[in-house]
Amino acid sequence: MEVLRFTSKKMVVTAALPYANGELHIGHIRSTYLPVDIHTRYLKANGYHAYSICGTDEHGTPILVRAIEEKKTPKDIVDHYHNIIKKALIDTGINFDIFSRTSKNIHYKMTQEIYQRIKENGYIYKKKVKILYCEHDKISLPDRLVRGTCPYCGAPNQYGDHCEVCGRTYSPFELKDPRCAICGRPPVIKEKEHVFFKLSEFQDKLKKWIKEEVKLTKGVKDHVLSWIKDGLKDWDISRDINWGVPIPDMHDQVFYVWFDAPIGYITFTRELFEAKGLDWEEIWVEGKGYIIHYIGKDIIYHHVLFWPAMLMAAGYALPNEIRVRGFATLEGKKMSKSKRWYISLHDFINIWNPDYLRFYWAHSTSESLDDGDFSLREFEEKINKVLIGEIGNFIHRVLTLINRGKIEEPLVENEIIERTNQIIREYIQNIENNQLDKALKNVIDTAGYGNKLLSEKEPWKNLNDESNRKLLSTLAVLLITVSRMLEPYTPLTLTQLRDNLKYDSNIAIQNIIEKYAKKEELSNLLKRITSLKKPKPLFKKVTPEEIKKAMKLLGKE
Ligand code: MSP
Ligand code: ZN
Repeated sequence: MEVLRFTSKKMVVTAALPYANGELHIGHIRSTYLPVDIHTRYLKANGYHAYSICGTDEHGTPILVRAIEEKKTPKDIVDHYHNIIKKALIDTGINFDIFSRTSKNIHYKMTQEIYQRIKENGYIYKKKVKILYCEHDKISLPDRLVRGTCPYCGAPNQYGDHCEVCGRTYSPFELKDPRCAICGRPPVIKEKEHVFFKLSEFQDKLKKWIKEEVKLTKGVKDHVLSWIKDGLKDWDISRDINWGVPIPDMHDQVFYVWFDAPIGYITFTRELFEAKGLDWEEIWVEGKGYIIHYIGKDIIYHHVLFWPAMLMAAGYALPNEIRVRGFATLEGKKMSKSKRWYISLHDFINIWNPDYLRFYWAHSTSESLDDGDFSLREFEEKINKVLIGEIGNFIHRVLTLINRGKIEEPLVENEIIERTNQIIREYIQNIENNQLDKALKNVIDTAGYGNKLLSEKEPWKNLNDESNRKLLSTLAVLLITVSRMLEPYTPLTLTQLRDNLKYDSNIAIQNIIEKYAKKEELSNLLKRITSLKKPKPLFKKVTPEEIKKAMKLLGKE
């Protein structure tokens, strides 16, 4: 079979860094963490040099505000959530090669170094701006630290930058009756020198890069080009707070969180590569690697405009691809922690096998900006009918029949093999082109094809018949194919099967059939299946009781 490999370069695959000020919910993994994990699991199992990179984003005013509200230090907050987020990801089978933190020293150094380069290259200037300041608390008040009445709809007690009632955004100076979020006193207006990045100078370069170089999810290009057309303003990258990466030449300011956070992709690559004895500059400075960012659609602006402009200004390598997916809703409504409309990853895992959530999202999420809904009814149906009814059932039937039949001499049916090879080819094309839902449908089709053959030929009626033995040995090859193709999607469950059958999970998917269709490998496989005690089903059905438990989480009984 032809090799579809599109690169022999080192691949650095990143996931947007989650803010360390709350736990992850089932929606976060839809757009970002699950697609990265499926993709890198596939890449690694198929001989690519892929490195998956993530960590928590630990700066920004929301973290500071939360610390002030809870009478803790920002460090307490981020320590707490870093561990919670890390654990939830691991429990969901989402494994990064490195899951670091932006509060580390090495990240401060990296951010400051990149700032110096950008400055030396002439893209930084300083300018006086107006800020709000609380004389009582002796603290400047960025958007989140000011509250007041929304200038558009009149809703009281809204944040300084956006109204949660009408959804509009505005500047804190437009807010009616602004007050300090800490002490409630009205702030004063002060003048302060801020640091600006000359984003406006990158208009043409960005346009060219977006049109001709970077690979973007469909629909993203048009959005971004329209933003460029509206004109790019220079960007204020400084904040008057004491939580963040200090700006080296401003004694009491830190970088805006969106300046330092994406630099985390570089810092964490460096940490990982140094631990492995590899050269991170080869990727980020010399541009000899292949960089892919995975993000949700709300942070396109930051990744397709700000970030590449920073890299251009510093003289660093640019990402090759930015893969974007839409948001998750819950039973048709936006998820909201304050409104209790929310299922955390942790709560989900307490009820169900995390592979079920992975399967649900992978099956229903295409590479697009479209949002997707998590509905308990659909979830129950998808898991019970598709994952269990098609795939689990196929695997179980084949294992049980072979286990009972005790096939001595394996033979394979070429026609079935040919057709399966065709599906595998499509699977590889799909998964390598970020069509993860389509690739999963290829897996379901393979299992469905096997189920159809079983129903038509009814081999259980006479397991000693030669044509039935031939069919079942061929289906054993299909079983390995299905398991290998499914592994990136439901890895936690599939490990069990792999351990039981001891099949090779390192050989490239395109070579599986060739390997297992050979007499020796196949008869070894059949022997292992025969020697299993009594095959147990891999998956357990979603029950009405479990659905009730989940409804309870949503305050519905
Ligand atoms: N810290 C920033 C990213 C910095 S990257 C240099 C951030 N963090 S986040 O915690 O708010 O979001 C993490 C990821 O989850 C982002 O890719 C975001 O788009 C995604 N999602 C957040 N809520 C989501 C849904 N409801 N549905 C799908 N994805 C969601 O943004
Ligand atoms: Zn105050």
